[in-house]
Amino acid sequence: MAPRFIARQLSHPSGYIGVAIRHLMNRHNARMNAFAIRQLHLEPSDRVLEIGFGGGVILPALLNAAAFVAGVDRSSDVIEWAQRHFAKAIKAGRAEFRQGNVESLPFEKAAFDKVCTVNTVYFWTSLDAGFAEIHRVLKPGGRVVVGFLPKERMERMGMPADIFTTRAPRDIIEALTKAGFCDARVERPEPKTPWNVIVAAR
Ligand SMILES: C[S@@+](CC[C@H](N)C(=O)[O-])C[C@H]1O[C@@H](n2cnc3c(N)ncnc32)[C@H](O)[C@@H]1O
Repeated sequence: MAPRFIARQLSHPSGYIGVAIRHLMNRHNARMNAFAIRQLHLEPSDRVLEIGFGGGVILPALLNAAAFVAGVDRSSDVIEWAQRHFAKAIKAGRAEFRQGNVESLPFEKAAFDKVCTVNTVYFWTSLDAGFAEIHRVLKPGGRVVVGFLPKERMERMGMPADIFTTRAPRDIIEALTKAGFCDARVERPEPKTPWNVIVAAR
């Protein structure tokens, strides 16, 4: 399959191919997502939001560790799948999934204690608008975790630049700081780990 077709599916999974892409993402991104979730330092009373959850690889762990889990994704297929798959948790009032964009989050201000987003910043139109929205929906003292692959790795993958915008840790830290977050820093399980997981406080 052409990189352009794959890139489109990664940025917005849809249809039968989207189902396969979501399985692949879950497999390939599992370790990075598992590390990101640890950086959230979840408490049993937390309300947590995941933005761009795709195949939903960490949703079960979020549901195990937190009081309430919301997921937002711009793909309607992804939302429909989550609404079916987590119907019990939704019925119990412990989960909610809404279609939406990071730049205009469909939630009230100060609705969450923690926000997590992994492998989505390449697709945001504006880091400033996205982080301003995350700042709005987080409670004061809340925490945001942002995971993504480094520029060099993305460039080697040859993803089309009009679909994937590569990001450097500095870009994310600057945008977080501009939005009002503090203590933004990169966390890695080991110094050589290739991913960037950035943690900041509201
Ligand atoms: C590459 S997948 C990553 C999925 C998952 N977080 C992971 O790491 O495996 C990107 C997901 O983010 C969603 N997405 C991309 N841009 C978005 C945006 N601006 N707002 C909300 N969701 C977005 C896509 O629809 C897709 O489901």
